[in-house]
Amino acid sequence: MSITVDVPTNASDQPHVFPSGGVEPAACVTEAELAAQLVGDARQVRVLTGDRPTGPLHLGHYLGSLRNRVRLQNAGAEMFVLVADYQVITDRDASAGIADFALGLVADYLAVGIDPARSTVFAHSAVPALNQLLLPLMSLISVPELERNPTTKAEAAASGRPALSALMLTYPVHQAADILFCRSDLVPVGRDQLPHLEVTRTVARRFNTRYAPVFTEPRALISDAPSVLGSDGAKMSKSHGNTIPLQATADQTASIIKGFKTDTDRHITFDPALRPEVSNLLLITALCRGQDPAALAEQIGDGGAAALKRAATEAVNEHLRPIRERRAALAGERGYLSAILRRGAERATVEAEATLAQVREAMGMAY
Ligand code: TRP
Repeated sequence: MSITVDVPTNASDQPHVFPSGGVEPAACVTEAELAAQLVGDARQVRVLTGDRPTGPLHLGHYLGSLRNRVRLQNAGAEMFVLVADYQVITDRDASAGIADFALGLVADYLAVGIDPARSTVFAHSAVPALNQLLLPLMSLISVPELERNPTTKAEAAASGRPALSALMLTYPVHQAADILFCRSDLVPVGRDQLPHLEVTRTVARRFNTRYAPVFTEPRALISDAPSVLGSDGAKMSKSHGNTIPLQATADQTASIIKGFKTDTDRHITFDPALRPEVSNLLLITALCRGQDPAALAEQIGDGGAAALKRAATEAVNEHLRPIRERRAALAGERGYLSAILRRGAERATVEAEATLAQVREAMGMAY
């Protein structure tokens, strides 16, 4: 990264800005800890999650995070689900496909069980007050702090672009606005997003110290589901071309799973450290069936990779069948999907304007 800007050094009268030292680790909570905390606790938890609309969701998204969002929603959490369309343009041009991807993402959400009557599903670009919040937050973090963000660095490198866009550098602050505008307590994220959670907590704390205690510092909610690997043994990801798309047909799923890497030991055992590919197929199968992967390994035993893949194909297709049916029915309903985003944007706007009013007040800008 090549951008350098002088940051104020008169820290004595601006103790809130740019304290030296690294970014402190975001406070995290695991799902098991959360479940324990929520027992008998009637307080409503507010959760914000989001995805970039860059293509259809896959089994890794579903088993790693979507399923848990639906569980949180059904357990009574108040959910805000963000279609992060402005974040798409950090490393690519918004193509003509962005509307299809955004509406497709909404269809995926509804198909897996996000209920628009209970959860607010909305897009960045439709909530001006959210985006305005970015401005005061940007003043509370330095360029060097943003340049140190390991996730941004990795994404900038992966984008293959010669020059870093200003949005790539600053989008973690935009993500802070996503999280803070609706006062979410919890943000379910993968580990790659923890640096962004740190940015959120940092700007929230600095705002509170500098102006008035407007924001609560959200915690990251780390999924208990281990990450799912793709056909080549690397993390399942669209950019690796190794996914099982949620929308794949049963036959496509069978041929994708046939191509999954395994190993030469015919006896099937669950050993994630020594046999990652075989264990991954066991895990996928077990998660779809609601079974223990080690017990499943014992059942398959000497059946070998062929039996394991048959079991995986059947379990995935069985589990995804109703989701795929709902997804297919929704795909043609563009008007309905757009209406959900519009309604979500209205709700999100009410929240964002209320937060922005408090921010203006705290900053002495309520004229
Ligand atoms: N950065 C996230 C991703 O790439 C998407 C995202 C945008 C997000 N805003 C968010 C995630 C707010 C959690 C909270 O997947």
